Amino acid sequence: MSQNILVLPGDGIGPEIVTEAVKVLNVLKDDYGLNIELTYGHIGGAGYDAAGHPYPEESQQLAAKADAILLGAVGGYKYDDLPRELRPERGLLAIRSDLDLFSNLRPAILTEELADASSLKPEIVAGLDIMIVRELTGGIYFGQPRGIRTLENGEREGYNTLVYRESEIERIAHSAFKTAMKRDKRLCSVDKANVLEVSELWREVITRIGKEYPEVELSHMYVDNAAMQLVKEPKQFDVMVTKNMFGDILSDAAAMLTGSIGMLPSASLNSEGIGMYEPIHGSAPDIAGQGIANPLATIMSVSMMLRYSLGKVDLADKVDAAVKTVLQQGLRTADIYVEGLQEEKVGTAAMGDAVVAALKQGA
Ligand code: IPM
Ligand code: MG
Repeated sequence: MSQNILVLPGDGIGPEIVTEAVKVLNVLKDDYGLNIELTYGHIGGAGYDAAGHPYPEESQQLAAKADAILLGAVGGYKYDDLPRELRPERGLLAIRSDLDLFSNLRPAILTEELADASSLKPEIVAGLDIMIVRELTGGIYFGQPRGIRTLENGEREGYNTLVYRESEIERIAHSAFKTAMKRDKRLCSVDKANVLEVSELWREVITRIGKEYPEVELSHMYVDNAAMQLVKEPKQFDVMVTKNMFGDILSDAAAMLTGSIGMLPSASLNSEGIGMYEPIHGSAPDIAGQGIANPLATIMSVSMMLRYSLGKVDLADKVDAAVKTVLQQGLRTADIYVEGLQEEKVGTAAMGDAVVAALKQGA
């Protein structure tokens, strides 16, 4: 039986980069016997434009039937004035929550081909390989109550709630320890236990679950220090686990260590292995429609999908190898292009076509 992939291109550069990733999926289907069917839906601003909601009913139904989801990006200036609950970002939060995609894996790997694209010195970042495990369906991005209210004196006050239940911490802890077991067996839990009660509980629960994984070396770090250590000595980290908001921030920082946020994929998984796969970068409305966006993060998101949801590790390796090949050929989109090196600047479609060609060669 074929597996059902829901494709949600979204906004901004989303449709352009997803087009390239779909080319890759089609090669896997036609030349490698991958048994998949693609369906398409709307999310974010595109959902609002098509159906008046950033996560339309129709997309919810398609998502419920999908084995895996490929998402581009959401957000754009033209939606800035919409009421909060109709903004594109709410659609993304809603689908994550709807499918219970609590475990967000965000690798930050510096491939040797791109060592010069990092803003940090090569000796600090060469060989970097970090996995950030971000809790994705709880914490302050979802906590109730939230809103903006007017006080008695007429002044307005914005408020959000940072809350984590023990069971939410337990499941992300298991996910992080299991991830660490498959890697270098070192896990750093990032919190703010010197100030926040939520973090106190977080630290206690992570430590307790850690006893079930005696082989994993567990450490704890405050988030401010973690941000500093990430830019000072990033190679000290193997796996990091943290709350939703801290993970959002730290994963952008970790991404930049690798030279470009345009290179990093992500997987968001629930406990049944259903996953949503998306680049960690945003919709980049400033360059949308110009054909210059980097499709590699989305193509590598396909590789993560093959690995984590479709059980096709061999094909995932092939996609990763094809990406490596095009980088070795010197092809670079604008975001990873370094002036003065032996590199060829290419656009979105040319980069996608090059990956497809490399993949076909290996078929
Ligand atoms: C991300 C993004 C989203 C988030 C936004 C677009 C809602 O920044 O995936 O990191 O904050 O989770
Ligand atoms: Mg983010």
